[in-house]
This record gives sequence, C-alpha cells and structure tokens, in this order.
Amino acid sequence: MTGLAELDPAHVTWDPASRAKRRSDLRLLGASRPLAWLLLHGIIRNRRDVAKVPGIGYVITGAVACREAAIDNDRFVKDGPRSAGVLLTQVMGPTALLNMDGPDHIALRRRLQGLFTPKFVKEIADRALTPIAAEVTADLRAGKTLDASLLARRVTGTMMVNMVGLRLEGEARERRASEMYKLGQKLVGMVPTRVTALGPEKVAAASKVFEELVAGIDEVHADGPEDTIPGRLRELGFTLEETRGVVGMLLIAGTETTSTALVRILSLLHDTRQWERLERDRTMLDNAIEEGLRCATPVPVSTRTTSRDCEFHGVRLKKDKLVLIAWARAIQDKRVIERGGEFDIGREIPRELRLIWFGAGPHFCLGYNLAMRELQTVLTALLDGAPSLEVVQRRAARKVLLPTWDELLVRRAGGAAS
Ligand code: HEM
Repeated sequence: MTGLAELDPAHVTWDPASRAKRRSDLRLLGASRPLAWLLLHGIIRNRRDVAKVPGIGYVITGAVACREAAIDNDRFVKDGPRSAGVLLTQVMGPTALLNMDGPDHIALRRRLQGLFTPKFVKEIADRALTPIAAEVTADLRAGKTLDASLLARRVTGTMMVNMVGLRLEGEARERRASEMYKLGQKLVGMVPTRVTALGPEKVAAASKVFEELVAGIDEVHADGPEDTIPGRLRELGFTLEETRGVVGMLLIAGTETTSTALVRILSLLHDTRQWERLERDRTMLDNAIEEGLRCATPVPVSTRTTSRDCEFHGVRLKKDKLVLIAWARAIQDKRVIERGGEFDIGREIPRELRLIWFGAGPHFCLGYNLAMRELQTVLTALLDGAPSLEVVQRRAARKVLLPTWDELLVRRAGGAAS
C-alpha cells in the first residue's frame, strides 16, 4: 500500500541500484536471448579490449577501443564480405547507409546534412506527437491505465507515417502507423544471426516486406511537400532509388531502437524511484535520457569487417573477419565509469562514453536529434500526467535481441487528478 507521503515527489527517496531494478534486469535478460547476452557479458571476460571468439570473429569491448574502431573505417568497414551490409544491398539497394563505407558514404552523409536540421526535427516531431502527448497527459490525469509499450510503438509508428509524408488521417493513419512498426520489426527479424548473403527465396521474402514498408514513397518523392522526408530529399537532389534506400534505413533504424529506449527508460526511472526525483527537477530530463540510453543501450552491438590483416589494441586481426563493437560492454567499462551497472540520473557521464550509444565516426546515428526529441516529448507528457507513477503490470518480451517490456501498464499513483 502506498502511503500519502510517498505519493508526494518531495518525499520519495531514490536508489540507483534498487532491488526492483536488479529484478527487472534479470527478468528482461532471461526472457530475451540470454545466450547472446551471456556471450557478451560472461564468456568474454578478457582483460584486453579485443577478444577472439571462435566461429564469430572479434569482439571489441573497451569504451575507448569501441569508439576508435567505429571511427576507423580504414581497418573496420561496413561493406566487407562478412557484414550485414551485403544483405542490406540485396534487399534495399546500394544507398542504405549502413551498407556503405569510404568516399561514397561520406559524400552521401554530406548531402544529408541538410535533412535533420533542428528546425525540421522540431516541426516534424511536434506535428506527429503533440496530439498523442496531449492524449497521454489527459488519460493519466483522469486515472486511466496506459500500456507504455503500446504507446512507444504508436509514437514511433506515427513518426514514420509523418516522415514518409503519407496523406492519411484518423483511423487509417493509426492503422498504417502500427502496420509500419510491425513491418520494420519483421524486416529486422529476417536478418540471420550469422551474417551471410541471403539466398534468392529469402531475398524475395525480405524484398516483399521492404516494398510494403516503403509503399507510398514514390508518389511523395514525385510531388510531395518539402516538410516530408521524400519531398525534402527530392529538393536536395536525391534520385528515387537513393531516396528509397535512405528512407528505408531511417524507418528501420529509428523504430525499435527508440521505442525500446522509451520503455526501458521509463521502467528504470520507476524501479529506482527516480521518476519522482525527475519530477522534482525537470532540468535533469536530458541527463536522465542519456543515462537511460547508456543503461539500456538499444543498439548493443555494431558490426564491421576487417579490411586487411592488422593489429588493434595489441591483438593481431585477420582480414575479412566479422567484428562486433560491443557498446553494451563499453558502457560499463570500469576504467572510465564507476558503478556502471547503476542507473543514476544525476551522474555526470564520462567524456569517453558521451553519446556512445548512438555510435561514433562516419556512421554516427543520423536520427540522434529526432530520437532525443521523441523521448523528451513523450516523457514530458507522462510526467505532466503522472507526477508520481505506478507500474500495474508488466511482461518481458521473449526471444528478442533487445531486452524490453512487451507490456508495461502504468498509471498515476494516488488516482485521478482532482
Ligand atoms: C534511441 C534511439 C536510437 C539509438 C540508440 C540509435 C543508435 C544508433 C547507432 C549505435 C548507430 C551506428 C551503427 C553503426 O555504427 O553500425 C546508428 C546509426 C543510424 N541511425 Fe540511429 N539510433 C536511434 C534512433 C534513430 C532514429 C530515430 C533514426 C532515424 C529516424 C535513426 C537513424 C539511423 C541511421 C540512418 C543510421 C545509419 C547512419 C549511417 O550509417 O551513416 N536512428 N544509430
């Protein structure tokens, strides 16, 4: 039973390493793909920054080494034979960003500089999310229970519909948002755990899903307004094929990552009782999001291939081997962060880890601004509706690579607002 004093944010004390957080971490990992996580956290207990893992290749674990590897696209490339880039090209064409490297990739990123300007990100996020945010606040204030996981999928799906510029309203828009979220998830799920080129049947199946995902882009690219991404890319001189590759990647890279982040940050804030701490001082919001992204690491590993025989952090590497840059290990590197397993929204994130959950170097996340804006908007709406928060029920997602809650029912503690 929650006492009245506890409902007042001013009286709640927090615990960055609470039992509730440890219990949640275990539940999430146990339900996801525990073997993959055991491999990352348990088996690779090397003292060095690079581990050779038979049957896989190399895993880079240190914070400094991970950043260095991501920046170094001389030794570590995205478009090598053992990388997922091969699959992306088969299904999405040659300009899907994460299948490119070197001068072509740098030139494409340069052309994309005018895409996610702060003004455009604000406009597109406000247009897509203001109605949802208002509804969330009102529902919580009325004492209703919300499924935060469903909300996160709705937010990222609606963002997609807006980015693509589909001219849909009301129910049709909501339906397409949910459909697009599922299609993106399905496409990601079609990437095999072991990276090899896909056979013709699998390419055909994945291409069909991709076509459904990008349906409507052609028309918007042809004559849609500039406040849509295809329309904007057309004005920036992108061909239809380039636009399909770039937009397809935005849809895939920006969906599950952001929705997982939202659900995990919310549950971390709740489980460590820092929701109320944040409510007391909302200037901590951006730091809370960064610390949440550090702990949840929505992209736990990035892949590369070695371009040649070389040495890295004292280890000899062979050409054409798969390299996993393990961000999920880097964020707890004891050499750069103390109590890395704890979630503390007041901590100063060490320089070595700054934004590392968004990658580094030429492939640094293109949607970083947009992801931050989405998280800020939704968390603010939830705080406005529920200054003190209760989790009513939750269910961990099973057999997924990104541990998350499939269902996270939350409500305003203490009932409806008077
Ligand atoms: C919390 C949410 C997000 C996280 C944690 C995240 C993380 C990352 C990371 C780690 C990379 C680098 C991958 C690598 O080095 O191999 C990346 C790349 C990328 N991200 Fe994000 N991302 C997020 C949201 C988004 C959003 C919202 C979008 C777009 C709408 C987006 C679009 C991209 C694209 C297009 C790339 C590829 C860039 C390139 O290869 O040049 N991401 N992201």
